Amino acid sequence: TTIYRQDYQPYPFVIERVELHFSLEPECTTVINTMQIRTSHAGALLVLNGEDIELKTILLNGQAVAYEYKDNLLTLQPEVTNFELKIVSMCNPKTNSTLMGLYVSGQSFFTQCEAEGFRRITFFPDRPDVMSEYFVTIEADKAQYPYLLSNGNLLSTRELDNGRHEAKWHDPFLKPCYLFALVAGDFDIREKTSKTRSGREVLLQVYSDKGNGDQTLWALDSLERSMFWDEQRFGLELDLDRFMIVAVRDFNMGAMENKGLNIFNAAYVLADPEIASDANYMGIESVVGHEYFHNWTGNRVTCQDWFQLSLKEGLTVFRDQEFSADMMARFLSEEAAKSARAVKRIDDVTRLRVSQFPEDAGPMAHPIRPDSYQEIGNFYTATVYEKGAEVIRMQHTLLGEAGFRAGMDEYFRRHDGQAVTCDDFVNAMEFVYQQQNPGKDLSIFRRWYSQAGTPTVHVQMDYDHAQQTCAITLRQHCDKVGVEKLRTDFEKKPFHIPFHIGMLTTQGQAIPLNVKDLSDIRVTENGGALLELTEIEKTWVFSHIPERPVLSLLRDFSAPVYVDYDYSFEELATLCAHDSNPFARWEAAQELSSREILRLTADILAKRPLSLSPIVQEVWAHNLTDPHLDAAYRAWLLALPSEKVLVERLDSITPLALHQARQFVYKTLAKEHRDLWLRTYQGNHSQKEYSPDPISMGQRSLKNMALNYLLVIQDEEGIALAKGQYETAKNMTDRMGALSALMYYAPAEDSEIYSQAFYRYFEHNPLVMDKWFALKAMSVKRVDQLRELMQNPLFTLRNPNRARAVLFQFCMNNTEAFHHESGEAYAFWAEQVIALDTINPEIAARFARVMDNWQRYAEPNKGFMQKALQTVAQCPTLSKNTTEIVGKALSI
Ligand code: ARG
Ligand code: ZN
Repeated sequence: TTIYRQDYQPYPFVIERVELHFSLEPECTTVINTMQIRTSHAGALLVLNGEDIELKTILLNGQAVAYEYKDNLLTLQPEVTNFELKIVSMCNPKTNSTLMGLYVSGQSFFTQCEAEGFRRITFFPDRPDVMSEYFVTIEADKAQYPYLLSNGNLLSTRELDNGRHEAKWHDPFLKPCYLFALVAGDFDIREKTSKTRSGREVLLQVYSDKGNGDQTLWALDSLERSMFWDEQRFGLELDLDRFMIVAVRDFNMGAMENKGLNIFNAAYVLADPEIASDANYMGIESVVGHEYFHNWTGNRVTCQDWFQLSLKEGLTVFRDQEFSADMMARFLSEEAAKSARAVKRIDDVTRLRVSQFPEDAGPMAHPIRPDSYQEIGNFYTATVYEKGAEVIRMQHTLLGEAGFRAGMDEYFRRHDGQAVTCDDFVNAMEFVYQQQNPGKDLSIFRRWYSQAGTPTVHVQMDYDHAQQTCAITLRQHCDKVGVEKLRTDFEKKPFHIPFHIGMLTTQGQAIPLNVKDLSDIRVTENGGALLELTEIEKTWVFSHIPERPVLSLLRDFSAPVYVDYDYSFEELATLCAHDSNPFARWEAAQELSSREILRLTADILAKRPLSLSPIVQEVWAHNLTDPHLDAAYRAWLLALPSEKVLVERLDSITPLALHQARQFVYKTLAKEHRDLWLRTYQGNHSQKEYSPDPISMGQRSLKNMALNYLLVIQDEEGIALAKGQYETAKNMTDRMGALSALMYYAPAEDSEIYSQAFYRYFEHNPLVMDKWFALKAMSVKRVDQLRELMQNPLFTLRNPNRARAVLFQFCMNNTEAFHHESGEAYAFWAEQVIALDTINPEIAARFARVMDNWQRYAEPNKGFMQKALQTVAQCPTLSKNTTEIVGKALSI
């Protein structure tokens, strides 16, 4: 069944106060839920959700009461308007493999309630607009569960009979039930007291499995940095005396922002130089920040209903992106800081293109505020998160930093303590925008919330030599996508697109844009301009342009769109070498190599001989040697676009030909510049002590990239360097850099030796074993080798990190094996979706999305993919989650 946004109705009851009593037993936990309820709608039906829990008793004001319980709904018709409802129920956390609700991981208890997990704990109106004050009592065996945690402040603890004990918690802030959390177990704790800017003392804590306490320093420091950053940049202060983070091995997502008690996938908590890579360090900092920032954008102001998910997620991703950028840039010179910010932006845009652009072009396409869903668990998507963050970022671009901050202040002034909508957020921003721009508003901008798809902006330039004017015409286009295609009444309208441009001479000098006499334009750094396209097509005429300019388009990726402009290779080469906007400069290199790879793909299919344009080779040589570039940025300039990004530019996807074409470019650039790669490696390799700072991270990433270029051509010296790097590695980035290059490209005997050495050394560390499983899954040649890998005693489908490492990596990052012409891997996929679905529907549904864009593949792949999807669809016991995904894949 489909749920529609327009059907929203306020809940007719207020649940003022919730008292929860937990008696914890792994296989039979008893929950006593006592609610104080009132209503002004006498006679209204009280409907509570409940799923996979056993109802024991219901008492209304201490009396038995009539009720109906069917289809996971418990319905009562109270005759009073002010009453106490007490419900006793039982659940089995031990057998709960969905990891939603209350579950056991290792020896401990954890909860995950967002979006709809609370209903697996007790009967309750499981929706975000019902906000209550929570009092929680947890009772459990003391020896096994010495720590009993919940949201807010610890009121008291006491000893009970039979070796049991109890703890009482109170959360002073009203909250929806999705923010409830409980943890019980034995842990290592790392803690620190800190002071908020108003001088209040707060206790910051990180809980991890016994024996992991020495791996939580980075997470704890990241937490304190997040706290200070939110004070400085947004004036937002921590509102509790105590803030806890708990790491858990079995977790469906990254982490969860439960009030005062964040629960994290251990992968986003545990780090030390030996076990965690640079990417892991950055991931931890950003997820710790993300969850911490939710305390204001998510918890203090929450969502009215789940269609508004991007209200908190898009905004909080934008905030964590800015936090990471600020952390990268601090302590650096102005020039280096600019480059570090560009690197972060490139990283974020790449993530968007890899995961969100394909989503927006497939059967699951939806606006950042969807209008309908079957299962909300399927809508924690790249669109809601990453594109949602881009939509916030465009508002930041339109309002400027100070204006955006004023809009945020206004948002909190209006809505603190409320459950609101995306419209409420835009209203607050629009209030400021209208003060800045009398007569204008954000009405067209709001379409980003209601229309899906990635618009294309076609750019046309007309230079008039005699007048020295240059006319820029932008024309936008966006087809219907996803569910939009099923709605005949739906007409797509133009978006409000902030489009940041610059102009260069053919020699690469910036041409300052003279915008005095133009409306709807603002000048930006280096003489660039911000154009606001709000209709289908518009032309801007620039004067005093001394020559036909080279256009630098969509600087800083000022909007989530495709750009279509008929560049010459020479123009792209000019931008690659000279654009003062580092994002646009990188983009030019991407465009240049993308065009080559796509042309070569066609050559492969037509069986034409292959050759790489000398311009591309020159650009790469230039970027390998340009002395002005720092390592991190240089690495991005030298990286080839990923297959996932390239695939979106093919009408008919031929995965193997595309892969071959990209490998051809890779190998040619490796061969042609072999000595430069070697020098780049040597110039950036070091044995100094590990630190996750942007300069040394950049050097490691460039060094490992150079190593890969050397190994892709099986260079003898390169192989020897990789072995040496592996053997002397003092940190995981060096170790993995060497190991992955060896496992992908070295002769089989070599790679096996190093793979096994790594395995034996890290066998007892699950997070590191996930890295090993992933490398294996990405480098096997056929499905039977993957099946063999799954026979490894450490493999299990029950742990999401492990399932992701093996199944997701194989299907998403092993083109040759997954898209093997036999179609065998697609059949394997179907079998694994079905297996996973009986264990964990949310993870199964996510895995099912691997086939999203099957319709755009060429035969024979397409036919095999369809067959695999049908196999899954025909499974009689399929979860609601997976049913929605394969249903849409087959019908939209
Ligand atoms: N709100 C969490 C975040 O920080 C994600 C929780 C999603 N949970 C889920 N079961 N889908 O983004
Ligand atoms: Zn979030």
